Amino acid sequence: MRTPIIAGNWKMYKTLPESVDFVRELAPRLASFSGVERVVCPTFVALAAVAEALKGTPVKVGAQNVHWEAQGAFTSQIAPTMLQGLVEYVIIGHSEARAYLHETDEDINRKVKAALAYGLKPILAVGESLVQNEAGETEQFVGGQVRAALDGISAENMANIVIAYEPIWAIGTGKNASGELANSIIGGTIRGTLTQLYGSSVAQSVRIQYGGSVKPGNMAEYMGQPDIDGALVGGASLKVEDFAQLVEAAAKAKGV
Ligand code: 13P
Repeated sequence: MRTPIIAGNWKMYKTLPESVDFVRELAPRLASFSGVERVVCPTFVALAAVAEALKGTPVKVGAQNVHWEAQGAFTSQIAPTMLQGLVEYVIIGHSEARAYLHETDEDINRKVKAALAYGLKPILAVGESLVQNEAGETEQFVGGQVRAALDGISAENMANIVIAYEPIWAIGTGKNASGELANSIIGGTIRGTLTQLYGSSVAQSVRIQYGGSVKPGNMAEYMGQPDIDGALVGGASLKVEDFAQLVEAAAKAKGV
């Protein structure tokens, strides 16, 4: 069985003290749902303090991006070596990084490889725009993103990768994809692509999240779907009560 994973992507929200206060309040609220993997992804400046505050709790830490080089003259960037020992997960390929930082499929592939090489687990984000969705290009586009990001990645490495399907039109818009639609892209397109690349047993073992306007009120709809293994959550992960309700809903729906 695939362990559900709920990750909070805090984006560019919360100062360092706010981040630490938040996780001190959040961790005890999430303590009892041990069947669900719980992750917070704060900004880089708060990572060390949040990791320290979460020591001894079941809540794990993720970064929001990583560079592919081990070190070097890359002003403003963070190397995978700098995240080692600090985080377990790293979000790679988020649509905001693709759009605003102009990350290409090739960059994302390099980042996935570098993360794995340094023992970090990528949360690989993929998803189509509204224009692509309306043009009926979702399956081809998302399948292509998955293939490009995983180029050269071995089947063994897939045990350390989580994929997040985040349709861009659903992010921060309140216009979430229906559970059925998300399940069809995750189960059909993404697992279908993984089956072609690695065979069905690997494809069935990889955890795939949905992301895009996930809230306590719609969480059960996603977690009731057979191919959806959790959520990558923006806005609702910034509130302790909402985060706790998401995790509780996941535990309930998956019976863990
Ligand atoms: P929202 O949950 O705010 O729509 O953001 C989703 C997201 O981008 C998570 O990575």
